[in-house]
Amino acid sequence: VITKITARQVLDSRGIPTIEVDLYTNKGMFRASSPSGNCTGIYEAVELRDGDKGRYLGKGVSRAVKNVNERISEALIGMDPTLQSQIDQVMLDLDKTENKVELGANAILAVSIAACKAGAAEKEVPLYKHIAELSGKTSTVLPVPSFTVISGGAHAGNNLAVQEIMILPVGANTFEEAMQMGSETYHQLKAIITEKYGTSGCNVGEDGGFAPNISSFKEGLDLVKEAIDQTGYNGKIKIAMDVAATNFCLGTKYDLDFKSPNKSGQNFRTGEEMIEMYVQLCAADYPIVSIEQPFDKEDWENTKLLSAHGICQVVGDDLLMLNPKCIERAINESTCNALLLKMNQIGTVTEAIKAVKLAKDAHWGVVTSHRCGETEDSFIADLAVGLATGQIKAGAPCRGERLVKYNQLLRIEEELGERAVYAGLNWRLP
Ligand code: PGA
Ligand code: ZN
Repeated sequence: VITKITARQVLDSRGIPTIEVDLYTNKGMFRASSPSGNCTGIYEAVELRDGDKGRYLGKGVSRAVKNVNERISEALIGMDPTLQSQIDQVMLDLDKTENKVELGANAILAVSIAACKAGAAEKEVPLYKHIAELSGKTSTVLPVPSFTVISGGAHAGNNLAVQEIMILPVGANTFEEAMQMGSETYHQLKAIITEKYGTSGCNVGEDGGFAPNISSFKEGLDLVKEAIDQTGYNGKIKIAMDVAATNFCLGTKYDLDFKSPNKSGQNFRTGEEMIEMYVQLCAADYPIVSIEQPFDKEDWENTKLLSAHGICQVVGDDLLMLNPKCIERAINESTCNALLLKMNQIGTVTEAIKAVKLAKDAHWGVVTSHRCGETEDSFIADLAVGLATGQIKAGAPCRGERLVKYNQLLRIEEELGERAVYAGLNWRLP
């Protein structure tokens, strides 16, 4: 049973406070922390921050810590950690709000994840297996990693509007081989960028992708394609983009120059022009297989029009916010065809599992995702395997808070041995 829960404030990969929880049972201590991101929406669970400008510029989380140490701890002590949905429900009942603003989604999520780890230990099974069982399945799948190799948008200081250009080693036979292909291509890209833009072009963004001072999608894609060609992985590595277009939508226009201080207005695009650009890029010689958040979070219409072209997977991030109502609407209206699984957008393990089920029942793809503000918690690696999402994006094959997820996947594959299944070419519907 759960005997004790304590929380503390730690810092995430951006140096911004987040919450870490230690949950104790007779089997030991189980630690978890909440990640944090940039893009948020109105239906998203609320991250509780202190707002005291004199401390961490208002971003402290002492109120969330206090909520865990007092109210949540009091309610959960004595419970069986294997009963994930009951634990999560107790927290939802205690919070009583639709968006978890009372206790804080950051507080609730860290406890929910810590309880999940404790539940696996209680059953003496690996975490991914426990998660699979919670979702009512027994099969597990190693996901195709989506490595960020070029960073832009709100994640980097260059002029590039697109937030991430990623590579997917779908042609690998194992996760380990995918890791090798990703790492080699990343380093090849570094050499190419150094030659073209000098060493400063290899400074990295928040997810570990290189951030050379380029300004068009095409320049970024050309660099990545060249790296894939040079490593000899042509055909085996595909490309994905997270456009994160909400960041540069101005009314009905998209400003591809949104980070430039002196705007000419020249780089404004209508939704229709954006669609045309995506269609052209996919028709060109780039192996693009997935585009995330190609339009503003409110722009359901253009997202739907792009999906109807059927040229690639279209992933909803802040369009959906992992909210079941938004997911259902998007399924009914055929707005997109893949879900971005960011746990802290919803706030509990149980609700995340339900959201994935909704998406999978509609034959959508599911991308398990990090946030730009990450921690040393590797939970999402086990989550991706246990829920067989088929895809995971956790940043570059570089930087500790990103590698902690990928390295955990290497360990899981090793542990599964002969039974390990790598999603590979079945990454969309594993
Ligand atoms: P975030 O977005 O900055 O909101 O965490 C990350 C992502 O969508 O990959
Ligand atoms: Zn995104």
